[in-house]
Amino acid sequence: MKTVWHFNTAPSVFVGRDSIKKLNQLMNKFNGTKILIVTDPGIKNAGILDKVLEVIDSKYEVKVYDEVLPEPPIDKALECYEIAKNFDPEVIIGLGGGSSIDLAKVVSVLHTYGGHPRDYFGENKVPGPVVPLIAIPTTAGTGSEVTPVSVLTDVENDVKMGISDTNIIPKVAILDPMLSIGLPPYVTATSGIDALSHAIESYTTIDYRYLKAQGEVIFQGSSSLTDHIALGAIQKIAKNLHKAVLQGTNVEAREEMLLASLMAGMAFANAGNAAAHALAYPIGGIVKSPHGEVTGLLLPYVMEYNVNVVPEKMAEVSKAFGLSEQHYSTEELAAEAPKIVLQLLEEIGLPSKLSQIGIKAEHIDQIAEKGLQQERLMRNNPRTPSVASLKELLNKAL
Ligand SMILES: NC(=O)c1ccc[n+]([C@@H]2O[C@H](COP(=O)([O-])OP(=O)(O)OC[C@H]3O[C@@H](n4cnc5c(N)ncnc54)[C@H](O)[C@@H]3O)[C@@H](O)[C@H]2O)c1
Ligand SMILES: [Fe+2]
Repeated sequence: MKTVWHFNTAPSVFVGRDSIKKLNQLMNKFNGTKILIVTDPGIKNAGILDKVLEVIDSKYEVKVYDEVLPEPPIDKALECYEIAKNFDPEVIIGLGGGSSIDLAKVVSVLHTYGGHPRDYFGENKVPGPVVPLIAIPTTAGTGSEVTPVSVLTDVENDVKMGISDTNIIPKVAILDPMLSIGLPPYVTATSGIDALSHAIESYTTIDYRYLKAQGEVIFQGSSSLTDHIALGAIQKIAKNLHKAVLQGTNVEAREEMLLASLMAGMAFANAGNAAAHALAYPIGGIVKSPHGEVTGLLLPYVMEYNVNVVPEKMAEVSKAFGLSEQHYSTEELAAEAPKIVLQLLEEIGLPSKLSQIGIKAEHIDQIAEKGLQQERLMRNNPRTPSVASLKELLNKAL
């Protein structure tokens, strides 16, 4: 049994309206004047790139790569790497949702150590520190601004692949709600439910003392610190996700969602995600759905799958959504938790069945088998998974 856990996160986090104006001050922390900004066409067209360029002091030389695609394919990382080779940046900024921040992370690795993204897929494959990263999230979100994770799509093999290494945690995260008020309702819903998946999966993940893994692992299972942060994130999402979807310009709701996404990222960066994220990897290779659409859809079914193993924590999830222990027993509260999340999906306009996103009965076997192979995620699931029980879970979700 383990007796020690550790906690990694971004060393500097700035939160609040107009916090983007702190960017020059933060740049002074780094020895360098050449900045590469990695972003996507949606961010540029929404005027967000201009807002960031406007605040950067003229003493800095800035190069922009604005061709990131959602769920970024490996090719885009290679394309951006070519630009980095010629420009030789001293700081890399990831500006956008998880897709842009994740691509900035991979490029920082390639620019520092060379090679191909495939050389770094897996855990602890980055040899050491990378070009400093600043993350400016515009979705809420993946939490990528504080996580040791970067996810790319391997188009040739129809599968999403991840780099997990604490060397790629950004040095600075800036969370300015004014950059997310124009986020369209559907992306607000998919990215917000992804944050809820991170919070609930890391809250209910296996206790760090009982995680069966060899050596130093990044995703250690839940500790008292990750539990507090994850539950705090769940409470914030319960209060603010509807508001952010329905009233996009509500700055307070946007800020609370950014904070919730940050907290959920801090929790899963250390405790780890579990079965919903593991099963989302093979599904993301079969259909081109946004990541949050898939993890959010799977979440209530995975909660139902796990509920009897972690009833007290599931009861806390229901309480975070406003159910009172005066009216229900712990078992009743726990049983309500998956139903609350299912209802939330419907209320914010997200699919709640795999068939709605193009998954067919014939895909179930391969999803269960490939999902189980996502060892770093599945080993953290509180209920020990098997192909047979995962197939049952997936058939309920079909
Ligand atoms: N690194 C991690 O820890 C981590 C965690 C979870 C998910 N992910 C990955 O992150 C990616 C998903 O990221 P995401 O959900 O943040 O979405 P995204 O980055 O894919 O963006 C989705 C769309 O929203 C647009 N957009 C983003 N912000 C906007 C704004 N403020 N205004 C207008 N349009 C805006 C973008 O242009 C894009 O078209 C997936 O590849 C997923 O696998 C990474
Ligand atoms: Fe996620």
